[in-house]
Amino acid sequence: MSREWWRSAVVYQVYPRSFAGGGREGTLAGLRARLGHLAGLGVDAVWLTPFYPSPLADGGYDVADHCGVDPRYGTLDDFGALVAEAGALGIRVIVDIVPNHCSAEHPWFRQALAAPPGSPERERFVFRDRPNNWISKFGGPAWSQAPDGQWYLHLFDAAQPDWNWRHPDVVALFERTLRFWLDRGVAGFRIDVANMLFKQEGLPDVAAPGLTPLRPEAGATPYENQPELLELYRSWRKILDGYPGDRTTVAEIWFDAAEHAEPYLGGDGLAQLFDFRLMPCPWEAAAFRAVIDDSHRLARRSGGSIPWVLGNHDVPRMVTRFGIDQDLVRQPTAEVLLGQVEVDVALGTRRARAAALLQLALPGSAYLYQGDELGLPEHLAIPAERRQDPMFERTGRAFIGRDGCRVPLPWSGEAPPYGFPAGDSPELGTWLPQPPGWGPLTVAAQEADPGSTLALYRRALAERRAHPALGDGDLEWLDLGPDLLAFRREPGFTLVTNFGPGAAELPAHEAVLLASGPLDGSLLPADTTVWLR
Ligand code: NOJ
Repeated sequence: MSREWWRSAVVYQVYPRSFAGGGREGTLAGLRARLGHLAGLGVDAVWLTPFYPSPLADGGYDVADHCGVDPRYGTLDDFGALVAEAGALGIRVIVDIVPNHCSAEHPWFRQALAAPPGSPERERFVFRDRPNNWISKFGGPAWSQAPDGQWYLHLFDAAQPDWNWRHPDVVALFERTLRFWLDRGVAGFRIDVANMLFKQEGLPDVAAPGLTPLRPEAGATPYENQPELLELYRSWRKILDGYPGDRTTVAEIWFDAAEHAEPYLGGDGLAQLFDFRLMPCPWEAAAFRAVIDDSHRLARRSGGSIPWVLGNHDVPRMVTRFGIDQDLVRQPTAEVLLGQVEVDVALGTRRARAAALLQLALPGSAYLYQGDELGLPEHLAIPAERRQDPMFERTGRAFIGRDGCRVPLPWSGEAPPYGFPAGDSPELGTWLPQPPGWGPLTVAAQEADPGSTLALYRRALAERRAHPALGDGDLEWLDLGPDLLAFRREPGFTLVTNFGPGAAELPAHEAVLLASGPLDGSLLPADTTVWLR
């Protein structure tokens, strides 16, 4: 048994605006009404992306009030009811905390703009007379001008000014925010861009501006991984430890090399940090093994916990990633090409199912992104005028943006809004349009089909709960050939994933616990994972 619940937990990411609706957008009441879906799936916790008051310049990651619920989603009472009802089903609730920046509508930023250069109000943010060469992660410069000519820093959208983390008001604001949600029963926090809060004194230029948005950087820019972060997360850990029940933190840190993640995993600060490196991985045994090996070793060495991630609201859905030419995935600009290349959805779906069984058998915790349990592909055909992601315009529309994985979930029926519903003006549809053809992917359709992706996820999570080898622990690699990824977990569990083009012989086993697709006698077909006893 693992020490803390979160070391083995399967956590389901809810993007509230698109999970389940009262109208064109999702609501907390809609989520409460659909908790049965999550209980049926068998997840341990949900993580909710921001539902705080926000002008939605970046889907809610531009927070105007850290201690409230945006009226479009409901009220604080709805949130309380959600925590209680989820808890009754054995599901914990993790919320997002966004400490690098706020919304330009945050009262403190409005005060800063209204105050003169050099004023105390401006010191809570990063105002300068001249910008440096940093670029925004969404494209374009990381600086915008106030009406009086001073520049303020925003590593993301211009509507997301960065905080000055060396200001005590900022430290105190986030301590209050942590306590506010802990008092309301949250099980922990997912920390947005957790490696960027502090900027190196003097704000030196970066050596190589112009990196692709959202792709991992060297980890050594003057706005990443500053030493003060470790102290800050230690102080947050003390706050969390003041509450009963193993509250957790899971940090969003895109790291390339383990050395950039390791300092955070000492145990007295962050509880967990994500490994996102499986997401840009091409469908190839060696590529998957290299990432898994590196992170697993890092977790063992540090005693830390590194949840596995195959999808989230920032990355094209895995059905689509695995359904395109895998040479394109190897290019750092892969996302830019989406929408212009052929997608083999059937192939991508087979691989996504195989990848899911691989993820769920790895040692440690796993985060699932809403809709991946339905095998949804990326919606690539959203008209330009309906796109909402600020990256689309900030990159001069070169980058298609992240809307295609944020489309409202299909619950039932043969046509949009697939039971979401679409609100008072059905002609407008859901806030992001859903594509035609998702009838067979709805929850209702998949519940009726024992071969569906939803059924596979349910069986995998049930098996994971029942099998003592799964969850936190160790793995032992088996070398079965270059196209096969295989490992054993004691007692008595073996996984084999076939990344190759042809069928492969299964190793000796007593029983097949689960397979991501049909087996061919004693052969494991291409793009298939099997769990063996
Ligand atoms: C990471 C979040 O996941 C993403 O959606 C957001 O745009 C940026 N951080 C900025 O907050």
